[in-house]
Amino acid sequence: MFLAKEDGEGHGIMEKASIRGSSFGRTSEGIPVEEYTLVNCNGVVAKVITLGCAIRELYTSDRDGILADVVLGFDSAAQYEGPDNPYFGSIVGRYANRIAQGKFSVDGENYTLARNEPPNCLHGGFRSFKDIVWKATARYSSQGPAVTFNYESHDGEEGYPGNLSVAVTYTLTANNELKIQYLATTDKPTIVNLTNHSYFNLSGAGTGNILDHELMILADNYTPVDDTLIPTGGITPVKDTPLDFTASTRIGARIDRLTNTPPAGYDHNYVLNSQDGLFASAASVYDPSSGRFMQVSTTEPAIQLYTGNHLNRVKGKGGMTYLRNGALCLESQHYPDSPNHSNFPSTVLRPGDRYKQTTTYKFSTK
Ligand code: BGC
Repeated sequence: MFLAKEDGEGHGIMEKASIRGSSFGRTSEGIPVEEYTLVNCNGVVAKVITLGCAIRELYTSDRDGILADVVLGFDSAAQYEGPDNPYFGSIVGRYANRIAQGKFSVDGENYTLARNEPPNCLHGGFRSFKDIVWKATARYSSQGPAVTFNYESHDGEEGYPGNLSVAVTYTLTANNELKIQYLATTDKPTIVNLTNHSYFNLSGAGTGNILDHELMILADNYTPVDDTLIPTGGITPVKDTPLDFTASTRIGARIDRLTNTPPAGYDHNYVLNSQDGLFASAASVYDPSSGRFMQVSTTEPAIQLYTGNHLNRVKGKGGMTYLRNGALCLESQHYPDSPNHSNFPSTVLRPGDRYKQTTTYKFSTK
């Protein structure tokens, strides 16, 4: 066990807060994996691991003050490495979501990525950021206990150009936010689109499905896709479709009207109304049974709503079985396949520029 250093700023809110590091076993290659347990002054607990930079457990209170773990995850490094890991809690990169045919160009140079979801590249490739053991540094920041994860991705890794330095910081604030800050720099023009792939069930991971959760997304439009889930290039209103969550609506209310690739469910990129890169509210989720309420805010222009359509009896933490629609993901991001659509906000990162993103998941009760 090892303890974080104090940066001296956060004493007041830090009285009951803590950070503790411990071993989370080893990868199949024998690399040690660490887990950091962050506790804020209100007793919210987040456990994050160096493998995939994954949020592994997240305990928040219900309306009676009872804590439950609201994210899906695994009990061992071997399961995180295995083929059945659907990116539980992980950081996704270098490019979250899909790139058509795994092909793109920057400044006239053509690049080819792994087609790990034929015919496309999904979530970075075969060995993506979820498979990496990141370097961790824990500290008490002025906002709460924090861990920064670093990774140096080399030029040509999974086909992407440029040496990319990535830093992801998780902070558990005194306001019950899990704050995720991303930073990346490159030494060659490249593309970057990072996200976190947490699967939330506000009744508690493994307790059932999320169809009774009520969702609001501040998005009047979405990006329609072809049958391989690549955007057609259009930006289409959600109004009068089952995708409209501009007013808080039960997730299950219209899910059976969706006709996308089976198993059908929500797997759509919402174009947020806030497009100026400033930190703004994006979505909220309310679970009437527990009273838990989660507010998502981000600097990103889009959010992927994914309702765990492919969860098929996945064996998770504590012997729990995760079923289809057993959780939802709200992945803040740039639009899928942006490098191949000049009308989408750019995902190009150049030497001297900084990729920056902030997303928070804030917990309260009603
Ligand atoms: C994608 C889904 C995919 C899931 C798990 C989501 O971000 O939108 O299409 O099945 O991740 O990989």
